[in-house]
Amino acid sequence: MMNSDVKISCRDVWKVFGEYPPELFEKLISCSDEAKLSDITARCTVAVREANLDIQAGEIFVVMGLSGSGKSTLIRCLNRLIEPSRGDILVDGANLSEMNKQQLREVRQKKMGMVFQHFALLPHRTVIDNVALGLEIQGFAKEKRYTRGAEALELVGLSDWDQSYPSELSGGMQQRVGLARALAVNPEILLMDEAFSALDPLIRQQMQDEFLKLVAIVKKTIVFITHDLDEALKLADRIAVMKDGVIVQVGTPEEIVMYPADEYVSEFVSSVSRTKVISAKNMMMEPDTWISVEGEDPIAVLNKMRKHNRDSIFITDSTNRLVGVVNKQRLAENLGGDVDSLRPITSKNYSTVLPDTSLEDLISEAAQTKSPIAVLDEEQRLLGVISRASLLKELADVV
Ligand SMILES: Nc1ncnc2c1ncn2[C@@H]1O[C@H](COP(=O)(O)OP(=O)(O)OP(=O)(O)O)[C@@H](O)[C@H]1O
Ligand SMILES: [Mg+2]
Repeated sequence: MMNSDVKISCRDVWKVFGEYPPELFEKLISCSDEAKLSDITARCTVAVREANLDIQAGEIFVVMGLSGSGKSTLIRCLNRLIEPSRGDILVDGANLSEMNKQQLREVRQKKMGMVFQHFALLPHRTVIDNVALGLEIQGFAKEKRYTRGAEALELVGLSDWDQSYPSELSGGMQQRVGLARALAVNPEILLMDEAFSALDPLIRQQMQDEFLKLVAIVKKTIVFITHDLDEALKLADRIAVMKDGVIVQVGTPEEIVMYPADEYVSEFVSSVSRTKVISAKNMMMEPDTWISVEGEDPIAVLNKMRKHNRDSIFITDSTNRLVGVVNKQRLAENLGGDVDSLRPITSKNYSTVLPDTSLEDLISEAAQTKSPIAVLDEEQRLLGVISRASLLKELADVV
């Protein structure tokens, strides 16, 4: 049974360019000695090798890898712009290789939009006529084309430019038109091959920001190819790293950076500052040994702190919302008197962060407090605790 949230599946997909014997695949699978294979691979290029992927509905799936690693070939196999040499592509569970021309055209035109690096705009058509091109091909009447084209232009912030020609627009604006053209047909899937790579760095970052906002509104499944690690980390829900046609690792940005599968990936990510990708939720510890529930006997609380070697402990109410923090020394001193409640010595002097707070921001937070940092959800419930020791250890790894 297929998981209903899977939008696109690659099952054992290969693409080989050039001449090759039918037994190539079996030989490549069974033999790891490159030298022995050299005669059967001499006249061909294995651009994609045994790709298996499940791309989830609504995710931004980024494919990353060096030049020539097979990214463009793979993304073109997804809509059969390139015919895979072997294996299957399933879109919403339907196998593309079992479709006739008409069915395939339907899927390509209606379900999938493509955005390229070089904007591929038609120079003698106005912006609106470029944007409405896909609708025109599908046979929509002019009025319908223009209303939907105008909506797409609005999404990318170019409403006022509908009657201009591509040459009158900057690179960033042309790329927006390319994006609007893909959006105009309202596809469920966007395939984007180095879509922002031709843009200047600042414009590129701006496009990434706008793109994320836009995607949050239009909710599409996106396959996005890039060379650029920062771009991948910023946009991706998950990243696939390709090397010589092989998908060597698939994971969240955090997984790729923290646990690179091999040397190739680790070289790719070595330049990235871990402080940007590691967030509070990756670092926090289970809160059990860091909390006591309000109303608990002070002596039991002190014993708990001694047992777990804590200098302070968080106090939560019965719904797990944070009430305050109690310091061990202060508690010990006050026990001599007649403290039968923690309330008078519970302090509000602690730092809290949200789960997505980056290590970078945690560091500045940590500088302001001596107690551990509480990780809270939006309702102030305690999800976890980050001790100063673990923060320092993480810092030692990144500097
Ligand atoms: N039409 C083709 N005919 C022959 N070989 C091809 C063809 N298209 C791609 N290749 C080869 O397949 C391999 C993968 O190419 P592909 O364009 O998919 O890589 P890429 O990861 O997109 O690279 P880049 O980052 O430079 O765009 C390369 O060795 C390339 O030379
Ligand atoms: Mg490419």
